[in-house]
Amino acid sequence: MTKIYSSSTKKSLAASLAGQNHADTLHNSDDLALIKRRHASLGGSILFYKEPAHIVRGKGIWLFDNKEKRYLDCYNNVASVGHCHPRVVEALTQQSATLNIHTRYLHENVVNYTEHLLSTFPEELNVVMMTCTGSEANDLAMQLARMVSGNNGAVVMENSYHGNTCLVSQLSTCLGSGNKQSDYVASVEPPNSYRGSFRADQRLSDRQLSQKYANLVDKEIQTLENNGHGVAAFLCDTIFDTQGGLVAPKHYFKQVYKKIRAAGGLCIADEVQAGFGRTGKMWGFEHFDVVPDIVTLGKPMGAGHPVAGLVTTRAIADEFAKRSFYFNTFGGNCVSALVADTVLSIIEQEKLIEKCAQVSVYLREKLLLLQDKYPLIGNVRGLGMFIGIELVRDRKTLEPAQEEALTIAELMKREGVLLGVTGRLGNVIKVRPPLIFSKENADELIDKLDLALREIA
Ligand SMILES: Cc1ncc(COP(=O)(O)O)c(C=O)c1O
Repeated sequence: MTKIYSSSTKKSLAASLAGQNHADTLHNSDDLALIKRRHASLGGSILFYKEPAHIVRGKGIWLFDNKEKRYLDCYNNVASVGHCHPRVVEALTQQSATLNIHTRYLHENVVNYTEHLLSTFPEELNVVMMTCTGSEANDLAMQLARMVSGNNGAVVMENSYHGNTCLVSQLSTCLGSGNKQSDYVASVEPPNSYRGSFRADQRLSDRQLSQKYANLVDKEIQTLENNGHGVAAFLCDTIFDTQGGLVAPKHYFKQVYKKIRAAGGLCIADEVQAGFGRTGKMWGFEHFDVVPDIVTLGKPMGAGHPVAGLVTTRAIADEFAKRSFYFNTFGGNCVSALVADTVLSIIEQEKLIEKCAQVSVYLREKLLLLQDKYPLIGNVRGLGMFIGIELVRDRKTLEPAQEEALTIAELMKREGVLLGVTGRLGNVIKVRPPLIFSKENADELIDKLDLALREIA
């Protein structure tokens, strides 16, 4: 559900691209027949772009459409080790040809993986539970938090996205009016130091900004206590994807965690987006000097194979096991486990985190040069290879440039570059390529972005 057009963007741009019935509006597309068949038989799935991209092949950083047009992939975080990495393909095919079965029989693949995964975490986080999707991981995390805390409520961000199960969609405040919010969910303003209530330009120090945003959580804790739910969890995407890719002030999470724990709740870091090296460190929370009680994982974990999970403490896992049990037919099966283990080995052996950290500094420097050139670029931010470029029509009023963001995404596609649009206001260009993204790839992105910005200036 991570999307080029966030649900809030969709709402405000109802007449625009996303959610549109392409079958009715595209009369000349060669793909019209397929679009019509898809529309007739597939529910609930949005196609990106005015003329949808018909991608048939991927290799490394490149995607190819059905006419062999090549695209530089600056959007897809799932294939973070590169599309169709030969080692992943080999692990998947070989294990599929040998055995694929659930975790109720002994098999070493899942244990090899859980041990390997835990070696990347602080020692307090020493138990893994396997799922198939990030939604399931967050759902299970919430079940653990409720059982261990004895409370029911959750504090989440405004305009959050955590997945699509019945429980987790309640915690996803970006889903729109059809998703009626329950009173056990309290949402708080995200720490946006560019256009939030407290801003870096108000001459606040990083510590003051952290404190001011963290203090907003007090009211939400109070609300949940007053309505009898209490606080079971604070659930937050470490890189704030749907809020436009924010970087929290340094002390924000530390201060919020203190408040949540004092209220008896658990702190869940949703690392479905930020995990596995995306931010230039293995785990996003490492930037903020905190250790969450539960970390949820997904997306790049299997490079496209559906594997996800959570990591927590032995005490939390045991408390849950005393009162309930957990089984997931596909979670942790021997194929998924081997694929995930191979992905983790590639990240380590190809030094993708170090590369990502280096190339992202280079890319950000180049983006700042573009910002000097084009007043439309109001803010460039991000951690590692998750970069948000916020477009504004006026740098003083910060009037959001939604249409311009969508136009740039379309122009970039024309030029052979895929990227996304996100944020509550739909005016943030999202650059989130596979971690193998090189300096040469960064140069190509910048050259084409320069071209697109010049075209709409
Ligand atoms: C931050 C975050 N959490 C959870 C999810 C849900 O993951 P999945 O689509 O694998 O269920 C997503 C998906 O976009 C996400 O971005």
